[in-house]
Amino acid sequence: MLRVSGIHAAYGSVPVLNGVDLAVEQGEVLALLGRNGVGKTTLMRVLIGLLKATAGSIEFAGQEIGRLPPHRIAHLGIAYVPQGRGILPRLTVRENLKIGTRARGDGNDAIPAEVFDYFPALSQRLDQAGGTLSGGEQQMLALARALCGAPKVMLLDEPSEGIQPNIVQEIGRLIATFANGRGTAVILVEQNIDLALQVARRAVIMEKGRIVHEGKSEELRNEAAMRRFLAI
Ligand SMILES: Nc1ncnc2c1ncn2[C@@H]1O[C@H](COP(=O)(O)OP(=O)(O)O)[C@@H](O)[C@H]1O
Ligand SMILES: [Mg+2]
Repeated sequence: MLRVSGIHAAYGSVPVLNGVDLAVEQGEVLALLGRNGVGKTTLMRVLIGLLKATAGSIEFAGQEIGRLPPHRIAHLGIAYVPQGRGILPRLTVRENLKIGTRARGDGNDAIPAEVFDYFPALSQRLDQAGGTLSGGEQQMLALARALCGAPKVMLLDEPSEGIQPNIVQEIGRLIATFANGRGTAVILVEQNIDLALQVARRAVIMEKGRIVHEGKSEELRNEAAMRRFLAI
């Protein structure tokens, strides 16, 4: 579904990605792990067109998308839920969700019914300002907003960051159902390794802007190599 090869990217003259290769299939959750500063968020920004790669290719459903502007990439069905969630705190839940529908690019701002199947609690909160929700609820809103764009691929950047443990489990379950239930391909960036390996079937580890290790989650759970790469 999404295939990345040989991606290089830099901020100005500072190289950050040094030849990233990875692929994620329909209905698959791929965990992207790595210490702070290795380039995980930068890769997400490249995939949604906010930062242009200096080399390499990004293929989505067989089409090269590396040169497309962000709105075209969104219309194709690639959604990004940024680190720190990025909801608009002064706008209501409904308004935040309506903004998510723009990613479809079809001019229709109806909130898809499936959003309330996945997030029933939000239907009681539609008129509430996003900023009055708890951290966990704001993360749910961010995921729901991404779902409003009818994505085929979801890029989730540390969705469990700063969230209470009981809600983290709930978020993990939801991510798994996006993949299993609607066939979404998910790239899950996480510092919560247990969560990532529980939700993802396969994981890759990034170091200094490159994928240095890849494996099935059940193998990685016990691997010393992984602890070394992640310094845990
Ligand atoms: N906007 C930016 N301008 C310059 N350097 C940046 C910018 N964003 C991130 N960096 C640098 O790029 C590297 C990778 O950052 P990032 O992709 O955020 O890593 P991660 O998400 O893995 O923690 C870091 O060295 C970081 O300091
Ligand atoms: Mg990051």
